[in-house]
Amino acid sequence: MARHLITSAIPYINGVKHLGNLVGSQLPADLFARYLRGRGHEVLFLCATDEHGTPAELAAAKAGKPVAEYCAEMWQVQSDLARGFRLSFDHFGRSSSPRNHALTQHFAGRLAEAGLIEERLETQMYSPADGRFLPDRYIEGTCPNCGFDSARGDQCDNCTKQLDPVDLIDPHSTISGSTDLEMRETKHLYLLQSKMKDQLQDWIDTREGWPILTTSIARKWLTDGDGLQDRGITRDLDWGIPVRRGDQDWPGMEGKVFYVWFDAPIEYIACAQEWVDAGKGDDWERWWRTDQGADDVTYTQFMGKDNVPFHTLSFPCTILGSGEPWKLVDYIKSFNYLNYDGGQFSTSRGRGVFMDQALELLPADFWRWWLLSHAPETSDSEFTWEAFQQGVNKDLADVLGNFVSRVTKFCRSKFGETVPAGGSYGPAEQALIDELTTRIRAYEGHMDAIEIRKSAAELRAIWSAGNEYLQAAAPWATFKENPDQAAAQIRLALNLIRLYAVLSAPFIPDAAARLLSAMNTLDTAWPDDVAAALAALPEGHAFSVPDNLFDKITDDQRDDWQARFAGTRS
Ligand code: 2FM
Ligand code: ZN
Repeated sequence: MARHLITSAIPYINGVKHLGNLVGSQLPADLFARYLRGRGHEVLFLCATDEHGTPAELAAAKAGKPVAEYCAEMWQVQSDLARGFRLSFDHFGRSSSPRNHALTQHFAGRLAEAGLIEERLETQMYSPADGRFLPDRYIEGTCPNCGFDSARGDQCDNCTKQLDPVDLIDPHSTISGSTDLEMRETKHLYLLQSKMKDQLQDWIDTREGWPILTTSIARKWLTDGDGLQDRGITRDLDWGIPVRRGDQDWPGMEGKVFYVWFDAPIEYIACAQEWVDAGKGDDWERWWRTDQGADDVTYTQFMGKDNVPFHTLSFPCTILGSGEPWKLVDYIKSFNYLNYDGGQFSTSRGRGVFMDQALELLPADFWRWWLLSHAPETSDSEFTWEAFQQGVNKDLADVLGNFVSRVTKFCRSKFGETVPAGGSYGPAEQALIDELTTRIRAYEGHMDAIEIRKSAAELRAIWSAGNEYLQAAAPWATFKENPDQAAAQIRLALNLIRLYAVLSAPFIPDAAARLLSAMNTLDTAWPDDVAAALAALPEGHAFSVPDNLFDKITDDQRDDWQARFAGTRS
């Protein structure tokens, strides 16, 4: 038994996430966590909400609520949706937790002691009317490029030109509307990442077997342009983690907070502390401190490609720069984007299907199966309603659901609701066991390597093998000539249902639970020995016929949903 720490990129607090966000980190992380638990490993699977930064402030203002109140509410919403999708986090934390405050301030203190933090003076837009510096998104004006009158300080949404607040014509504060803006000097902390370039380069160069997507992005940042840049890690905002040096004040930094991307990854560690505080575990150090047992831990992070630089460079900089024995990530699984019906999913424009909407339409397993079997691993992939309908109907209803229904109903009608006795396994059964053994070993290999599409394809082939066996064995025909042989065939098939439940649980946990309950068993042992696994339900073992596992998506439903989600969500 090994120990596995798994984290998913922590979703921003501002609003419900869409299916593209889900498949880019939380869902595959859950698949991996469930698989490893199923194989008997000890797993700590953590996620949290990412609660700081301008977007959180803006979303709260839009909702007309104090930021803290808004974040607490949205944490509950996201937590409930995670449960709805059966994301099996051991803890779902908050980056605004007192633990993360303390730990972030601690890291800043250590980095400063190591000479890796520098104070730098900059000029920024200040609004006397608001009594604060304005981040780029809080300033609007007329675009010097196209004349659009609501261009933001960082970009014009009309012509997409990247802007500086000083470029804007007639700039004003979006908080108060005040046009009385001035450039003022302000001091900020910079993390001297450039000093750690060689150490990071060596680390990246020695990461064997990492996905190309992960290492290529890291290398690009290490070598492109001027190479790894020093990074501002503080902001003039109200909401965030106050800048302190450990538990000491930081003279000159009063009223400032850490940049959201500095504190967010630290929440991975703080979340383990929160997990202990919540009484769910008793030792977070053995997961995170290499001097306290974490050397034995394999740590895997999941994230979308846009998050890779922060996890391959910035966060390792924080960890290594601290000079303390923190656990570094062992493997970073990153994802491309899932697009929606010919365009991009977009939170700001409300385009696509969002997690709450998805669960209103169909059970979680439908989404989990389709999204995971189409995970954007090697390139961007696309959600279309046709592909979704087809994938779900074929794989889940026609292959898996159909197998379960035929076997259990046939058994009930001919032998009753117990595993039938009599007969023995012959060459056809042995051939199936051999095929399944090969396929299950391949499935394990893909899952161990976090090759999600390949894993899904192998699982689908494992389901199909059962259908093909059933079709060839034809117990409904055998029964007339040789009821004993039909009994052996059905006994094997009922055992296959239990086996399918165990193998499929990481992808479709609810259906797997229903199958186990119908087979009236708590035996979830992984099939290391397939022949033995197919004898787990003995002759005479009672079972029940489950209700239809998966209702097919009709053409009418598909058309209706396609029309309903064609626009944007308000
Ligand atoms: O892209 C995002 O959704 C970020 N909130 C991810 C943060 S991951 C980490 F560093 F905490
Ligand atoms: Zn413009």
